[in-house]
Amino acid sequence: MSDRPTMTTTAGAPVPDNQNTMTAGPRGGVMLQDYQLIEKLAHQNRERIPERVVHAKGWGAFGTLKITGDISKFTKAKCLQPGAETPMLARFSTVAGEMGAADHERDVRGFALKFYTQEGNWDLVGNNTPVFFVRDPYKFPDFIHTQKRHPKTNLRSATAMWDFWSLSPESLHQVTILMSDRGLPVDPMHMNGYGSHTYSFWNDAGERYWVKFHFKTEQGHKHFTNEEGEALIGKTREGYQEALFGGIERGEFPRWKVQVQVMNEAEAETTSYNPFDLTKVWPHSEFPPIDIGTMELNRNAENYFAEIEQAAFSPSNIVPGISYSPDKMLQARVFSYADAHRYRLGTHYENIPVNQPKCPVHHYHRDGQMNTYGGIRTGNPDAYYEPNSVNGPFEDASAKEPPLAIEGDMGRFNHRDGNDDYGQPRALFNLFDAGQRARLFSNIAAAMGGVPGEIVERQLAHFKLVHPDYEAGVRAALEHMHGYKADTISAQPTAAE
Ligand code: NDP
Ligand code: HEM
Repeated sequence: MSDRPTMTTTAGAPVPDNQNTMTAGPRGGVMLQDYQLIEKLAHQNRERIPERVVHAKGWGAFGTLKITGDISKFTKAKCLQPGAETPMLARFSTVAGEMGAADHERDVRGFALKFYTQEGNWDLVGNNTPVFFVRDPYKFPDFIHTQKRHPKTNLRSATAMWDFWSLSPESLHQVTILMSDRGLPVDPMHMNGYGSHTYSFWNDAGERYWVKFHFKTEQGHKHFTNEEGEALIGKTREGYQEALFGGIERGEFPRWKVQVQVMNEAEAETTSYNPFDLTKVWPHSEFPPIDIGTMELNRNAENYFAEIEQAAFSPSNIVPGISYSPDKMLQARVFSYADAHRYRLGTHYENIPVNQPKCPVHHYHRDGQMNTYGGIRTGNPDAYYEPNSVNGPFEDASAKEPPLAIEGDMGRFNHRDGNDDYGQPRALFNLFDAGQRARLFSNIAAAMGGVPGEIVERQLAHFKLVHPDYEAGVRAALEHMHGYKADTISAQPTAAE
């Protein structure tokens, strides 16, 4: 008798033969009653789930957040108190490429974190950049369309990208970062992460603070040039997975220093920029980053699909002491992600093990497809509505965040009015040395191949407003790389009406 377990059907009965289809005679045809053949084929047809509409290609690992600093005066969040250690999951990603995209493509990298706290899951779904391309969520689907494939050619379109960017000067800051050295990190360990948005902290006294999160790589920044990336893609399309998974298997655990910038409510009224504008950073000189701890990744997933592909991160997941801000982009994301998960993973996506909170869960949602937790989640079969007099789970007023004063007339306000889209990209450009600038110019010129002159000129006019050397450098690189000559069209910097 073999000590191998018996292979069974999904209904638990022993499978007598997993090698030969049931046929009428050795030559066939196949019998319809060979249900195990049908089930095998049917399961295979359902092995793929929709890929994420953005950030489809990703790499992840588990780890720990350790808090060493003391920010208890700003937040009551238990996971941010001195000495707290919280298990966590990180998933890194590229934005535009599909699930099979090559890892070493120039793109923004996702930096999504899920902290399994005692008070529920807290997700911080950021990028490796502190800002973003647009500041109004109305423009997000349009922007993403320019990053994905053209509907007719089914190719990515540089013309669409630069048409959109040149009509959206708020993108200049992020475009400059994307085209700089940091736009092509060698692997997930050698890049920073940023919460990017302004979030909020609140404390037991009911005081609110605005906050930005930073994760600084302790491995150091390392980047590839376009040429190095291209050469590598010729050898492997999976360099990030190899580096992250392989490193952790070898016991090389990457770490990030965790920092916050904190602004009080009164200060938010006085900054020269809108502190809730996702295209802006808070200058370090005005709001110095405070060290609060370390994040370490130290465990690989046992099964990529179950634990990384099925991971569902959402900015809507906050815990007491941490909350949102008026940032319009963040507000839209609070809706968008859980909606995406219900479509991609199903109604009860939070019950998939990797998404399950590691604290008691009691809610009154019921039934639905793939409800695998026994119908209701209240711990009491009679408590299936609320309010009730059967001692069902009840709200906790201590989790109520302080009220936020809001004023203003309802309307669609021009998000470009009164915004300086050039100052912060200029501050960044001024940080670059000659080598960094030269690579910036040539990366942009490479990305502009085939773009009509009218669009190129419109974009160059924006670069000029950042810094004359920026425009001159890109123009020279275009001439050198593509033989580009200035069009007769003298375009002015424009924003879409
Ligand atoms: P600071 O000189 O105080 O900060 C500069 C920061 O820029 C550094 O701390 C570093 O951020 C980042 N940086 C340095 N070199 C590069 C590079 N080659 N590519 C991208 N980022 C780099 O000035 P400010 O705070 O006034 O910021 C100036 C500009 O720096 C901003 O306009 C923004 O573009 C960029 N920046 C600012 C950040 C912020 O939170 N203030 C964060 C990241 C970039 P880090 O320590 O995060 O690596
Ligand atoms: C993924 C929407 C802006 C970072 C996604 C997904 C959606 C989405 C629908 C796929 C989710 C899934 O299927 O699991 C939006 C919308 C935005 C926005 C509507 C603006 C209005 C941003 C910004 C950042 C960001 C500003 C970073 C600061 C990410 C990351 C992922 C992601 C990291 C991948 C998460 C993972 O690893 O599973 N986004 N996004 N997004 N987004 Fe956004």
